[in-house]
Amino acid sequence: MNAKRKIIIDCDPGIDDALALMLALCSPEVEILGITVVCGNVPTEKGAENALKVLQWMDRLDIPVYLGEERPLVRNYVDAMDTHGEDGLGESHYPYVTTVRPRAGAVKFLADSLLTAAASKEKLSIIALGPLTNLARLVQQSPESLDGLDQLVSMGGSYKSHGNCSPVAEYNYWCDPHGAKVVYNAFYTLPQLSGKEIHMIGLDVTRQIVLTPNLLEYMCRLNPERGEIIRRITGFYMDFHWAQEGIIGCVINDPLAVAYFLAPSLCTGFSSYTDVETEGISLGQTLVDAYGFWGRHPNSHILTETNPVSFMEMFCSRVLKGSEKALHPMLCQLMGGCEK
Ligand code: RIB
Ligand code: CA
Repeated sequence: MNAKRKIIIDCDPGIDDALALMLALCSPEVEILGITVVCGNVPTEKGAENALKVLQWMDRLDIPVYLGEERPLVRNYVDAMDTHGEDGLGESHYPYVTTVRPRAGAVKFLADSLLTAAASKEKLSIIALGPLTNLARLVQQSPESLDGLDQLVSMGGSYKSHGNCSPVAEYNYWCDPHGAKVVYNAFYTLPQLSGKEIHMIGLDVTRQIVLTPNLLEYMCRLNPERGEIIRRITGFYMDFHWAQEGIIGCVINDPLAVAYFLAPSLCTGFSSYTDVETEGISLGQTLVDAYGFWGRHPNSHILTETNPVSFMEMFCSRVLKGSEKALHPMLCQLMGGCEK
């Protein structure tokens, strides 16, 4: 078997962050060096407690959790507890982990890990599932450490899909647009990142990943214990989606970023220069210069198409331990058919 790919997951758990962590924890291809938490769906401390809860569910409390930035670079902090619940996990109120505590210093952990990777010529990637505040601080405080970065996959932004915080803005980049701009600009200007692009898993692809009541029922039958956890943390999220967007089910954004890192063929898109708006009515919008109007070299790879059935197959086989043979026909039936 090939050597495991080393990753750090930067997140704001968060219901879909929790599902993404579960997928990563069930993927033998990756070695998770640590989880860094950023202010987003819930305040940083609460997010870190939730990351520990997920690690406890998955019996992986050996993985360290680090506390990151507690407010965006410039904007006032606006949480998303209306979507994720007061506890950040859909009012599921799972017990707190008491045996392990989060550590301080997320940005220093990111920098030290990247410097170590660079020194040992190992590859280290980051999967970012929340606002990019921690990564922006990393760029500002330790740009030299980015020599050690292999890939950055960021769930955030939107190319042509409508926003979820305004007609054009997606929450992660709306919550901290200045942080997002710093990171996207770094991929345009820093020599350490020359030739690299942020893999942007935006709403164009994540809106295609909808956990429906039928899929949830199937998950609970595949694996009652894990299915029940998923049911408990997504009920609140499904109610929110019905109230806000008239959807029966819930869009689970973050796990697609992990799945794409594991299997890049799961999504297709194009390379482009992208900038982030930091003021006015379109604050947080990702301006994707798909046709090269500004003549700037790409700093991002914008994913626009995905295969929801293939994603769900990966999720159900890894997290729910479903047998691959039975999954495909069942998921095709539950998800409205498959390409012939
Ligand atoms: O807009 C969706 C994103 O914002 C997801 O990552 C969700 O967890 C929130 O962080
Ligand atoms: Ca998130």
